[in-house]
Amino acid sequence: MTDIVDMLEAKRARARLGGGEKRIEAQHRRGKLTARERLEVLLDEGSFEEYDMFVEHRCADFGMEAQRIPGDGVVTGHGTVNGRLVFVFSQDFTVFGGSLSEAHAEKICKVMDRAMKVGAPVVGLNDSGGARIQEGVASLGGYAEVFQRNVLASGVVPQVSVIMGPCAGGAVYSPAMTDFIFMVEDTSFMYVTGPDVVRTVTHETVTHEELGGARTHARRSGVADLALDNDIEALLQVRRFLGFLPSSNREAPPARPTEDPIDRREPSLDSLVPDNPNKPYDIKELIRKTADEGVFFELQPDWAANIVIGFARYGGQPVGVVANQPMVLAGCLDIDSARKGGRFVRFCDAFNLPIVTFVDVPGFLPGTVQEYGGIIKHGAKLLFAYAEATVPKVTLITRKAYGGAYDVMSSKHLRGDVNYAWPQAEIAVMGAKGAVEIIFRQDTGDEEKIAERTAEYAEKFANPFIASARGYIDDVIHPRNTRFRICRSLEVLRNKRLENPWKKHDNIPL
Ligand code: HXC
Repeated sequence: MTDIVDMLEAKRARARLGGGEKRIEAQHRRGKLTARERLEVLLDEGSFEEYDMFVEHRCADFGMEAQRIPGDGVVTGHGTVNGRLVFVFSQDFTVFGGSLSEAHAEKICKVMDRAMKVGAPVVGLNDSGGARIQEGVASLGGYAEVFQRNVLASGVVPQVSVIMGPCAGGAVYSPAMTDFIFMVEDTSFMYVTGPDVVRTVTHETVTHEELGGARTHARRSGVADLALDNDIEALLQVRRFLGFLPSSNREAPPARPTEDPIDRREPSLDSLVPDNPNKPYDIKELIRKTADEGVFFELQPDWAANIVIGFARYGGQPVGVVANQPMVLAGCLDIDSARKGGRFVRFCDAFNLPIVTFVDVPGFLPGTVQEYGGIIKHGAKLLFAYAEATVPKVTLITRKAYGGAYDVMSSKHLRGDVNYAWPQAEIAVMGAKGAVEIIFRQDTGDEEKIAERTAEYAEKFANPFIASARGYIDDVIHPRNTRFRICRSLEVLRNKRLENPWKKHDNIPL
């Protein structure tokens, strides 16, 4: 018996060593943790239970039969984050560069299948040279098995990808199909084809970092939801992040008691919106001043910043927050912001997270760049997402709600449950000046008349009361009471039930 136990321990020790001390040192020299060290940071202490520690690859080509490393380049299993179950896989770059063999893929598939059965999130820590080159199509098949599961799990359990090293070629499509991508600055990159292929095909010279680093994807492409400084910071943020999400679509998001009184008044909000309607202000101030303890977990802060998305709690209940940002492009909707907001709204709807929307939107961004880029289809994504969402929807118009953008931003007509406006809200087809230039074109040049007409239009429409008179706005509220009104509305809507008609699936304009 002792021999067997000793043998087991020896085998475990061998597996824990991965690709060996030298490669572990190299990993550390690059500022990266190993696959196992990462899991120690991500999971509650002592909670990790590993599966398939002794799995080996089955490749016998190119001398691979002599190189079998137990675990085969990925550490898999489950553990807890703040006491809640999470399934994990963590690719081990010290073993064949974390490359994905058939056996490696099977290990990932096993945890994904289990997560689906029991209803718990999957967090994947990616650090891999891609397909195991020695295995050829067996590796490609392995990727496709993972892709298939990503799709089936989408909307059933939350899937989070953390990119902590290379992630290239077709391998990028697994993270791409998960719900959120966090990247580590300087040590991670994602691209479909690397700098060498790019140089050959398009004659562009770019570095790995420029082409697919964390900053590139967090600022330019919008592929990454967050770029974090280092491995530890990224993993700690994933821990915080999971605290806002339900374990599956069968559960409510995790409410937690708050010390922050729901009836906390915030007098400073009375003067948040400047008197001059063209002057910007920071919508994040409104979010922070109304959310529990001022905590807002923002996603994609540096991409399509004209819309703000993220998670917060109101009265202890997690919600998704979507807000136009007057500081960027005056809060206009454009292609990127519609994509960003639309995908986020769909995530919230899939996972029972109420949506709180703050509206200050002068319309869709005009111009050939937007039209040629397909703003018609892309803009429709946000509209579609709000319209199909059945979770509680609480909306507040702080200032402008013009034109189609008024409709889009969780309006009453798209089944907004509670729609508030602040007294200075302007709900109209467009701003007074633009409106007068169109409907009183004959007066162009007559400054006095135009000014008179503009004042008349503003008087009539630049307020929330016409919309209120029709019941499109449920109440015009004092800014200082915003937190209380949102919290109470969410409480009232807690047991909301609403179902869309049966269909195989919808056909959102992709
Ligand atoms: C097998 C691999 C490997 C791979 C790296 N290694 N990638 N082994 N299959 N794909 C091994 C190396 O042989 C080396 O082994 C160790 O991992 C570390 O690699 P290095 O090159 O020394 O590390 P580094 O300089 O940091 O470079 C990392 C890298 C580079 C940029 C990832 O290794 C690389 O370019 N690898 C190939 C990437 C690639 O073309 N993959 C296929 C993409 S196509 P030793 O024993 O020396 O430690 C793809 C298709 C997926 O993935 C399709 C899905 C549909």
